[in-house]
Amino acid sequence: MDKKERVRSLYDQTSAHYDDRYWEIQIHKYSAFEKDFLTNKAPLIVDSGGGTGLLARYLNREIVVIDLSVGMLKVASSKYPNVHLIAADAEKLPLRCGSSDLVVSFSMIQNLPNPEKGISEIIRCSSHDGIVTALSKIISQDRLVELIEMFSVDYEVVDLSQEDVAVRFAQ
Ligand SMILES: C[S@@+](CC[C@H](N)C(=O)[O-])C[C@H]1O[C@@H](n2cnc3c(N)ncnc32)[C@H](O)[C@@H]1O
Repeated sequence: MDKKERVRSLYDQTSAHYDDRYWEIQIHKYSAFEKDFLTNKAPLIVDSGGGTGLLARYLNREIVVIDLSVGMLKVASSKYPNVHLIAADAEKLPLRCGSSDLVVSFSMIQNLPNPEKGISEIIRCSSHDGIVTALSKIISQDRLVELIEMFSVDYEVVDLSQEDVAVRFAQ
């Protein structure tokens, strides 16, 4: 089993308990993101590796959630009517270039065998800006900066939570 298959299987198996375990942890990241970066104008948000749709639950708005784990997406579909679900690999998003104003990814990039491909896809699909966070115990702030610097975007390091390192980018 390769890394992607292992990750998919892990999230499929634990999806039923994900929201109970991680809601309190994830909302700190979402709230900092909402406060500092989300304008009142309502862009359609694409959430790469969006899992069970916790961001849609937090923001209570329409979101496109893309995830490799069908188990995670099934939880999203059973709980949140305001999510559009796509089962796909974050290293190859099934979206046109610049198709979304805002592409976000919370705590997913560290799962990828090739995190630079995931970041490249997030940037490609965003027409304006986005945010990428990664678990700091797996990807350091310096490594995340190194990854974002592979692309021709403006970026800033942002402080969202203790668990995650984060960068915001703009085209
Ligand atoms: C820690 S969870 C974060 C979920 C969500 N972003 C949140 O804030 O709750 C990581 C998610 O990344 C997804 N994931 C891992 N590898 C992926 C890949 N290659 N493509 C798409 N999703 C992936 C997992 O299935 C899981 O739902």
